[in-house]
Amino acid sequence: MLKTLGAHIKEFKKDSILTPVFMILEVILETVIPMMMASIIDDGVEAGDMQHIYIMGALMVLTALLSLWAGVMGGKYGASASTGFARNLRKAMYDNIQTFSFSNIDKFSTSGLVTRLTTDVTNIQNAYQMILRMCMRAPATLICAMSMSFYVNAKIASVYLIAVVLLGIVLFIMIKITMKYFQQVFKKYDALNESVQENVSAIRVVKAYSREEFEKGKFLKANENIYNMFVKAERIIAFNSPVMQFTVYTCILAISWLGAKMIVSGTMKTGELTQLLTYCMNILMSLMMLSMIFVMITMSMASAERIAEVLNENADIVNPDKPVMQVKDGSIKFDKVDFSYHKNAETPVLKGIDISIKSGETIGIIGGTGSAKSSLVNLISRLYDVSAGSVSVGGIDVRNYDIEILRNEVSVVLQKNVLFSGTILDNLRWGDKNATDEECIRACKLACADEFIDKMPEGYNTYIEQGGSNVSGGQKQRLCIARALIKKPKILILDDSTSAVDTATDSKIRKAFAEEIPNTTKIIIAQRISSIQGCDRIIVMEDGAVDGFGTHDELMAGNEIYRDVYESQMSGSGDFDE
Ligand SMILES: Nc1ncnc2c1ncn2[C@@H]1O[C@H](COP(=O)(O)OP(=O)(O)O)[C@@H](O)[C@H]1O
Ligand SMILES: [Mg+2]
Repeated sequence: MLKTLGAHIKEFKKDSILTPVFMILEVILETVIPMMMASIIDDGVEAGDMQHIYIMGALMVLTALLSLWAGVMGGKYGASASTGFARNLRKAMYDNIQTFSFSNIDKFSTSGLVTRLTTDVTNIQNAYQMILRMCMRAPATLICAMSMSFYVNAKIASVYLIAVVLLGIVLFIMIKITMKYFQQVFKKYDALNESVQENVSAIRVVKAYSREEFEKGKFLKANENIYNMFVKAERIIAFNSPVMQFTVYTCILAISWLGAKMIVSGTMKTGELTQLLTYCMNILMSLMMLSMIFVMITMSMASAERIAEVLNENADIVNPDKPVMQVKDGSIKFDKVDFSYHKNAETPVLKGIDISIKSGETIGIIGGTGSAKSSLVNLISRLYDVSAGSVSVGGIDVRNYDIEILRNEVSVVLQKNVLFSGTILDNLRWGDKNATDEECIRACKLACADEFIDKMPEGYNTYIEQGGSNVSGGQKQRLCIARALIKKPKILILDDSTSAVDTATDSKIRKAFAEEIPNTTKIIIAQRISSIQGCDRIIVMEDGAVDGFGTHDELMAGNEIYRDVYESQMSGSGDFDE
């Protein structure tokens, strides 16, 4: 996991190395300063040597400035390395998500991906900066101050060796407990994010069902949970400071007492005592830092794992080695196709599909919800790969095509379709970024979208809000059809794409298709028999299998399901599912 993340430090390796180098330099200089201080007291003040005080004082200022510079440089490189690392991580994750197939995406929730790209990366960024700056600094301070203390006076140094060990044990216990809480906090964060994401993006549904109070309660609970966990963790961390203070003052007392006795008996000088006291502070501070690093690392471990999951997810639909770059025609062949969404699913979603569709044919698909109509057509443009058998377009297995070329030739209007924020023209040009205004207008005419666009005050430059919230369901569907048409595909698939369009417009769209794009293979999934009655042939889906395939008249004569639906719909009652 750390290897996965570490690979993205890349151009910030230099900064990542320079940070601890400068930090160590700072530590060394900080260790020298108390020595100079001691010398000023012992060789200057005590001996009455002003000259020595001036020289040492000047040296001390210089060293302090140098140490300040090292600290600033360390901070600068640390900030640059950690923010750069975060940038690389975000980019790598985003790039990888773009390669995901539908089945890859199925594995992560949208809110999960958003949290991973934002909060988790920020956690890593903070932890990384902390690690770069403190990981070397704290142990270095500990070692330098400790060895200097032993060098100055071994007897007194052993006092804080004892303190260090005791404090170490206390900190270790505290960390163990807080880590447990922090790990739980992060699990709860997911629940909070999910609640926020789901509600904010579906706020209209929440309002329509007057579920505000319920949703508020749900959020409150998630929020409260995190609060409680944090309080528990922080309560323990709050102990940190008093325990530290207590240890520091005890040490100072012990050193002063021991030191005073030694000074009186002449075995130690006053300056040496001040030097030791400074080291004492340094050592205890570095212990404090170490404990903070541990907490920080634990807090970021969960984030690191979640980021690594996204980075390590391999796209399961990739381009073949020698991709076919041209789709000959719009013929489609399903050859003994089985398909399931999950590898170890017990019953496949599609079983034993064998269908041949000629180029230019218009095919209707009808079947109850959940009969796998969408699953069937999603295999054609390789949004999912078959589990067994093969799907061919233009006589070649779809897995042999360059994916982009295949998807340009097989244009799908997905059942769950979305528009993006931008003008109508911007949205249409998703289909083909070089489409001229005339081509866009023509596509809208075919999809019967021109009627309402012309009525809008800004026509084709009307701004569509995020998710297409300022157009009606039927208008959105017509824009999505137009967007798919702009690709000028060889195969056009409409997955229940006119469900929100009135019957008259629906039939106008079909008529336009038949007249204007006769050579395009058209696959129309619909709930209304009237939408597909005129198709060359119709597929009746039932429980993931083809129950009937033929013209309207053939099915009327030979397919029971089709006939029942036809009769119930003609008598004006109910839809397919009834
Ligand atoms: N992304 C998915 N992951 C897992 N199962 C799915 C997914 N999409 C659809 N299914 C399941 O596959 C079956 C067929 O769904 P679908 O093809 O959408 O039916 P239809 O379009 O005919 O309503 C359903 O039982 C549904 O629960
Ligand atoms: Mg469907």
